[in-house]
Amino acid sequence: MQDKIKNINNIEELQALYTATFGKNGTMTARLKEMKNLDNEARASLNKENTMLRELFKNRQIELENQALMEGLAKQRLDASLNPEPENIGTLHPLTKSLSEISAVLESFGYKMWTGPEIEDDWHNFTALNTPDYHPARDMQDSFFLDNGNVMRTQTSAIQIRSMEKEGAPIKMFGVGATYRKEMDATHSPMFHQIEGLYIDKDITMSDLISDVKEFLKKFFEMDEVELRIRPSYFPFTEPSIEIDLKWQGGKWLEIMGAGMVHPNVLRNCNIDPDVYQGFAFGFGWDRLAMLKYGLNDIRQFYDGDIRWLRKTGF
Ligand code: DAH
Repeated sequence: MQDKIKNINNIEELQALYTATFGKNGTMTARLKEMKNLDNEARASLNKENTMLRELFKNRQIELENQALMEGLAKQRLDASLNPEPENIGTLHPLTKSLSEISAVLESFGYKMWTGPEIEDDWHNFTALNTPDYHPARDMQDSFFLDNGNVMRTQTSAIQIRSMEKEGAPIKMFGVGATYRKEMDATHSPMFHQIEGLYIDKDITMSDLISDVKEFLKKFFEMDEVELRIRPSYFPFTEPSIEIDLKWQGGKWLEIMGAGMVHPNVLRNCNIDPDVYQGFAFGFGWDRLAMLKYGLNDIRQFYDGDIRWLRKTGF
């Protein structure tokens, strides 16, 4: 009997057995009715059995009720991994997606990511970059000036200066962020983004620059081979300065980035001795590289916040 109670697995069966035992016509009820005919010892034993069985029924009932409760709760539990509404999943902005790809490549080469303020002072945006007040190169960039003389950062080159001021040499970093200029058409937006690499150490040469840029473009654009064209150029903060073009589909040359060997004056401005350390810098349009890779043609759409465009181009 005891084993039978313990082995019952549902409440209805337990109830039925209880009735068959303790109900009006139950077996125990019948035995209790005959108790008066028993001797003292048998009486005591029957009483004990009666109490023990009731106890067993009660405990088994509690167990089964708890079990049923837990099963009910488990069924009701919200399964967060089930059936998400596909329409409501967000997408990555092309800039976010491209930054994760760009930084993965640069970080694998040992460059460390830096950011800096978008409102810059004259020193970091121009003067330390070898572009003093009277310098004609200031006109290369149509800047937004603030009343207090600060400027909306026109180039991420300002982050180079901050990184060298803080860490000195050797240094291998890339600066990432928004930049601002007064220009606006399908390929120019007053706010756009740049990424800038810098590598300063002993014995760094132009060929290190070209090989890093080449490997970077190969990995980012997922091309087996890349063909570059190097043209002489001018930037106040590099000497010599170059412009790097990439051979694109259909044999078309695309202007991809500006670069050069960091000007000794720039190193001196950051308390680095140019007789000991030298190196290179390169800078490119982050939006522009994303547009090329993903086949997008209007930079203004990056900033319209049009959810339909993002759904179409997003990742
Ligand atoms: N700052 C330049 C621009 O905005 C781009 C650039 C050119 C960055 C050459 C560099 C560099 O670091 O070496 O047009």
